[in-house]
Amino acid sequence: MNASIAPSRVAAKALAWFDRHARVLPWRDAPDPYRVWLSEILLQQTTTTGAAPYYAEFLRRWPDVAALAAAPMEEVMSAFAGLGYYSRARNLHACAKTIAAGGGAFPADEAALRALPGVGPYTAAAIAAIAFGQPATPIDGNIARIVSRLAGFSAPIAANRREIEAFAKTLTPPRRAGDFAQSLMDIGATICRPRSPACATCPLHEGCVAAASGDPEAFPARAQKKPRPQKVGAAFFAARPNGAFLARRRPPRGLLGATMELPGGEWRAGDLADVGAQDAPFAAAWTRLPGRVEHVFTHFTLRLALFCAEAPGAAPESMVYVAPDEIESAGFSGLMRKAIALARG
Ligand code: ADE
Repeated sequence: MNASIAPSRVAAKALAWFDRHARVLPWRDAPDPYRVWLSEILLQQTTTTGAAPYYAEFLRRWPDVAALAAAPMEEVMSAFAGLGYYSRARNLHACAKTIAAGGGAFPADEAALRALPGVGPYTAAAIAAIAFGQPATPIDGNIARIVSRLAGFSAPIAANRREIEAFAKTLTPPRRAGDFAQSLMDIGATICRPRSPACATCPLHEGCVAAASGDPEAFPARAQKKPRPQKVGAAFFAARPNGAFLARRRPPRGLLGATMELPGGEWRAGDLADVGAQDAPFAAAWTRLPGRVEHVFTHFTLRLALFCAEAPGAAPESMVYVAPDEIESAGFSGLMRKAIALARG
């Protein structure tokens, strides 16, 4: 089933709505490719509210792509700390270096954009449309939901990716494709929400198959969620009397890649009560703190037991001392910030 409204009317209505109701977001003030790229990377897996302060801080520190390319990786990682999905930081830096080495201009073409580190099909289309005015069709979760509802696709999004893309392409206008994409993002965030969509105020209400069905929330069906496995582990907080404590940098690849952490052992399936100090980074009189740290990752939840001891004078190999006033800027993940807060509290 397809929406019973001409595709060009969908775009015209969405754009007219956008001209009056677009959210005021910091990356919308100038379609500068660097800013659009930066914002789209920060917005992968992150809400607009979560991304905005990071966007401001990145622009303050690195106002253009050459400045970002010249920054040490550790500083980029520190600026990313707390945002999650840290492979984005590595790719961001690699991409900035690629662009700077090629003269500093981003390519306007979707295929060339897609070849850049960290730029997938969605991000390439978003940059092409928003920064360069190309008639490209980015499809994020919000847009996939709106398209599914307009067209009456009731199966989960994953089952209809190709149909959603084909239909979304028919809706994309030849001009203002970037505004059109962002109008759908805003409609998805404020009106065509996953639950309780506000169809009465939706500019795309006319011809929307899901709205006409009387149960728009049923489109598209939600995919069955797999239960998240649980893992447990230990973290070790070894502090000097002046409050400085030992930390190390994680390997560049993999989960939380290149972020700073308290030393610890492997995270495994098991019971937190069975986690002891056997993975301690050095021998000391480790005492277990009451309480625990919990963190939800995409593919598992983690519980950490915390052990404290007095630190040795010199930092063991591959560790550094972090002073209390460096915690914010050192590049700890959200997980480690929670652990440090518990240990210092
Ligand atoms: N999410 C991803 N890109 C966005 C944008 N440009 N505006 C609002 N939300 C977004």
